[in-house]
Amino acid sequence: MSVLLMCLNNPWEGTTLSTYSGHAARDTSCGLIAGDESEVRCVRAQVTISKLDHMVDKLSDAYSRRAAEYIELFGSMSAVHPSDRQLVTTWASGIKGSVIDAGCGPGQWTNFLAELGLPARGTDLVPEFIERGRATYPEVQFTIGSLDALDAVDGSVGGILAWYSLIHHEPSAIAGPLLEFNRALKSDGTLLIGFFEGPVVEEFAHAVAPAYRWSVDDLSGELTAAGFDVVESHVRKTSGQRSQAAIIARRGVAA
Ligand SMILES: C[S@@+](CC[C@H](N)C(=O)[O-])C[C@H]1O[C@@H](n2cnc3c(N)ncnc32)[C@H](O)[C@@H]1O
Repeated sequence: MSVLLMCLNNPWEGTTLSTYSGHAARDTSCGLIAGDESEVRCVRAQVTISKLDHMVDKLSDAYSRRAAEYIELFGSMSAVHPSDRQLVTTWASGIKGSVIDAGCGPGQWTNFLAELGLPARGTDLVPEFIERGRATYPEVQFTIGSLDALDAVDGSVGGILAWYSLIHHEPSAIAGPLLEFNRALKSDGTLLIGFFEGPVVEEFAHAVAPAYRWSVDDLSGELTAAGFDVVESHVRKTSGQRSQAAIIARRGVAA
């Protein structure tokens, strides 16, 4: 039996196959001026960028190695809990404009959103997932990309779905993608995050790469700090399984 199947009762928790420990937002702007303080800052920034690139590469490699298993187990809407399907459907009905499935994995949610009539596109680090999305849903747009640098004009997107895609970000780096989502969303745009929930923020052993569970309060605080107004939250506790949660947040008018 595969390790992933053994983890079915505790989705993506269990055997750790990678030492990846998350990454932060990148700042690739660096004007080098030899011999002054900015050179020191830029060298530090380059070291940081190189470290982050390494971490992102490790995460992408870890998912790539197990992409076929992930697709088989979770790559269709039949694997989705009915209440999650309902939550996303209701959220999507209020979106004005386009939607990005950020960290789309195999693309089942991207296609679901497209079938609801929204201009939907998916983005993910993992080439195997993007290829699978394009092959399975040829009408839907999929691109390889990072949660920390969306391919979207400022204030242009009606909704962003981050369904269990922020779980690998180190807590100290979670502001990166949240600020990036805020940048991309329209002033009334909304964000829906699915995540593993717990009383405190802590790392747990995920089947692909280390991940973090969040309390609703802690993640709500990060959202507020990134310029969002939290609209609603949901927690689902199932015996024998990790607690799962979702938060819907709106880009604040002052953002
Ligand atoms: C647990 S999977 C969830 C996939 C999909 N949302 C689903 O529900 O099946 C986490 C996904 O987030 C993606 N991901 C994690 N960090 C990312 C990042 N920094 N940029 C882009 N994708 C990322 C991974 O490649 C993976 O496909």
